[in-house]
Amino acid sequence: MMANYAARRAALLAQMLPGSVAILATAPEVPRNSDCDYPYRHDSYFYYLSGFTEPDSAVALVAASATAPARTILFCRAKNTEREIWDGFRQGPEAARASFGFDSAFPIEELDVEMTRLLADSPAIYYALGGSLDAQVKVWRHNIRQKARSGVTAPAIAHDINDMLDAMRLLKDTEEQNLMRRAAAISSAAHVRAMRATRPGMHEYALEAELLYEFRRSGAQFPAYSSIVAGGDNACILHYSANNAVLQDGELVLIDAGCELDGYASDITRTYPVNGRFSGPQQALYELVLAAQQAALDMVRPGLPHSAIHEAAVQVLAQGMLDLGLLDRQKCGSVQDVVADKAYMPFYMHGTSHWLGMDVHDVGAYRDTGAPGKPWRALAPGMVLTVEPGIYVRPGAGVPEQFWHTGIRIEDDVLVTPQGHEVFSTAPKSVAEIEQLMSQD
Ligand code: GLY
Ligand code: MN
Ligand code: MN
Repeated sequence: MMANYAARRAALLAQMLPGSVAILATAPEVPRNSDCDYPYRHDSYFYYLSGFTEPDSAVALVAASATAPARTILFCRAKNTEREIWDGFRQGPEAARASFGFDSAFPIEELDVEMTRLLADSPAIYYALGGSLDAQVKVWRHNIRQKARSGVTAPAIAHDINDMLDAMRLLKDTEEQNLMRRAAAISSAAHVRAMRATRPGMHEYALEAELLYEFRRSGAQFPAYSSIVAGGDNACILHYSANNAVLQDGELVLIDAGCELDGYASDITRTYPVNGRFSGPQQALYELVLAAQQAALDMVRPGLPHSAIHEAAVQVLAQGMLDLGLLDRQKCGSVQDVVADKAYMPFYMHGTSHWLGMDVHDVGAYRDTGAPGKPWRALAPGMVLTVEPGIYVRPGAGVPEQFWHTGIRIEDDVLVTPQGHEVFSTAPKSVAEIEQLMSQD
């Protein structure tokens, strides 16, 4: 387990200039209101390199030079009997150093002194440019310049460490894949639990409670993002979060919810009838989104560009919008015209896929920005992404009334494998599976 974090530190060190220094800090604790903080969540980059979840921590890496081997250093909270009575256990530097596999460790209060020392005569510093360390880096460089008469120099080059880490984080190792598979399994069970619990007359928040219950009882620490439980036309609000309406007989409900397990996100959407049976128009729209999702999933294999996922979904959705009369053939022309003119946008206005990892919208470039024309990245084994087409129909002139007030999205979490892909999320999604599940008491 800890070997993974050490291997990532070694991989980063191998990319750094000899003798240069990298520094990453974790996220701050954020006050919510009097004497209360928001639930604490570590910084993803910091955790990726350390596995350490306490606040007030930082990691420094010193690359090997002609005269010294590479070094890894952890800064963290000192032991404090009084604070530990109130807030809980702290590792303290010495235990943390040993448990988390660093060469040395210091109390966080010594960060400024140590960094000023480490950066003296270092050719380059790697950190999150424009982030929370900007002001401190300025102070460390100033401290070194104060000693210019003794001949020491401050780093002449600053690199954005996140560019390097984004590329590493895009490819999930086996341990990460296993965690994400488990996170998706918990979230799938939560969706099933919510489906089973759904009855007309319930509030959306009652289903949210079912989701949270399943996440937490399964050991997931948090929802990976604010759960969306959207009945009827609330599903047409893409980031709906009020979750306080009453679910009506005859409506669909859209649930977009996923847990975070040990720092890794899942992100699943299911849409189903509140009363357990799709109406004819609901089923027509639903089957269209499901077909678009299947076409998009078929594009998830190594070597294909990430853009192929969205293009496949849009092609199917555009054809369906013409067939169902959402779009007028006289006005919009052929499916190629609909795609070229983006005439589908009033009903499908978001992308079909994003990277998934520690962050629900995970880091990693979608395009190769160093190549001419900035082509889309080719998919590669170890990437994890969502596939999430939808359709959102609000009342409008020329829009068949039978489809009004309907929002549908189907979202799964998918690993790119050497052979193609593996879908992590398993909650039912065919009309038959959903109706069967909801017919059981
Ligand atoms: N739940 C956020 C998303 O689907 O991207
Ligand atoms: Mn998503
Ligand atoms: Mn989602």
